[in-house]
Amino acid sequence: MSNAIVTGAASDIGQAIARAIVSEGGHVVLADNDLATVEEVAREIPGTEAVYLDLRSPDSVREVASDFIERHGAPHQVVNGAAVCNGGPFESVDEATWSQDLDVVLGGTIRLSQALLPAMREAGRGSVVNIASVNGHAYFGSDVYSAAKAGVLNLTRTLAVQYGPYGVRVNSVSPGTVVNAPRRRQLAEDPHALDRATEWYPLGRVGAPEDVADAVVFLLSDRASWITGTDLRVDGGLLAGMRGLAQALDTSGDAG
Ligand SMILES: NC(=O)c1ccc[n+]([C@@H]2O[C@H](COP(=O)([O-])OP(=O)(O)OC[C@H]3O[C@@H](n4cnc5c(N)ncnc54)[C@H](O)[C@@H]3O)[C@@H](O)[C@H]2O)c1
Repeated sequence: MSNAIVTGAASDIGQAIARAIVSEGGHVVLADNDLATVEEVAREIPGTEAVYLDLRSPDSVREVASDFIERHGAPHQVVNGAAVCNGGPFESVDEATWSQDLDVVLGGTIRLSQALLPAMREAGRGSVVNIASVNGHAYFGSDVYSAAKAGVLNLTRTLAVQYGPYGVRVNSVSPGTVVNAPRRRQLAEDPHALDRATEWYPLGRVGAPEDVADAVVFLLSDRASWITGTDLRVDGGLLAGMRGLAQALDTSGDAG
């Protein structure tokens, strides 16, 4: 049986990823600093267990990694999915706020990779998927979070090249707007809350956590055994181009 660790597993996307890995027959350690929620998730998904992980703390990361390796061996699959996106106006966002985005998104991915990759290298196998974002590719607001996601894209390529010779693959997925818990609450109050955002998506809808999970399990699996260092955009076509701009410039061959 394959073993996996998913960070940010208390989130909707993290839970969907855990469910998808379990449905492929894996055992999943659900890691998050929201212990109460992740424990609840573990009760709901057989084949999972919850652990407390604070990605901002090097000690916490080392402890979770060494406990995982001691009990399960080198991980077959690692998903770096935790994030903080505080946002705020670029000129006035304070140090404590922006550094949290950077420290969890990029710092956390670096820390967990440092803690787990040596065992994976020694085992001579394993697959890592980092959850990046369309924000790492182009401007969509949330400035420091986006810079951190761009760092994750770069780190993915770096680690893919360094660990490829040892049989360890490292890829990322870049989701567009996905309906998560806050957006679900928003939609419960106003079913049209995301209509204006949806217009930007060529496929005519925003994403569901399962859209991301399907891409992640593919990259984790042996079906992707010759894929490393790549980023899979799971974005309904958002980054493919700007239909509105083509229409404004009157260069669109669009029939619609
Ligand atoms: N929802 C979207 O539209 C969207 C779009 C692009 C990318 N993503 C990415 O997908 C992933 C999940 O997104 P989501 O919207 O479900 O996110 P979310 O904000 O609901 O979840 C993030 C999770 O990370 C955990 N976390 C935060 N700080 C942590 C820390 N210090 N240590 C350990 N865990 C910590 C949180 O408790 C939470 O469970 C994130 O990486 C996010 O950046 C989401």
